[in-house]
Amino acid sequence: MFDTMTITKAAGALIGALLFLLLMNWAASGIFHVGPSGHAAEGEEHAQAYTIPVEEAAGGAEEAKDEGPDFATVMASADAAAGEKVFGKCKACHKIDGSDSTGPHLNGVVGRPVAGIEGFNYSDGMKAHGGDWTPEALQEFLTNPKAVVKGTKMAFAGLPKVEDRANLVAYLQTLN
Ligand code: HEC
Repeated sequence: MFDTMTITKAAGALIGALLFLLLMNWAASGIFHVGPSGHAAEGEEHAQAYTIPVEEAAGGAEEAKDEGPDFATVMASADAAAGEKVFGKCKACHKIDGSDSTGPHLNGVVGRPVAGIEGFNYSDGMKAHGGDWTPEALQEFLTNPKAVVKGTKMAFAGLPKVEDRANLVAYLQTLN
């Protein structure tokens, strides 16, 4: 009788274990079935992952360039009075009375040919730069003078803020 009970318990345990295994197997097959479709989805993802980084690379580059509002947008509502304050950083070297000092005078600079002041001893880099000082050319130069005009004598780190550059260009325009 004791043995029968033991056997019954053992059988129960065995059946329970088998049921458990069956369930596990069913669950596992479920996972297995998800597996291939998941794999297919992964494959699709791979296909996307292939295009997305390319888009991201292009988009990322654009984003880096377009960081914040662009110059033209800021320029449209630029504040010449604020630009006069920014010009405080240029005054040490640039006069606006038509006479040159460390740098050439800057009255009339907007639209003026680059390295266009006769008698001013420009660097070779500035002479080679060419073109006119359009608002766009000015803001580009003023962002990072040494990077834009290689070998420039202008010892100025640059104006990293687009608002500062736009306001300054707006101020320079009032001097034309
Ligand atoms: C430390 C002196 C110094 C400071 C500060 C300085 N500049 Fe200059 N700048 C120069 C010199 C020197 C040149 C001539 C550069 C060359 O020949 O490479 C120059 C050239 C220029 C030119 C080209 C002019 C032309 O006739 O082609 C512009 C525009 C200009 N500076 C604008 C500015 C503005 C705007 C600021 C202020 C945000 C400024 N600079 C700050 C020294 C300075």
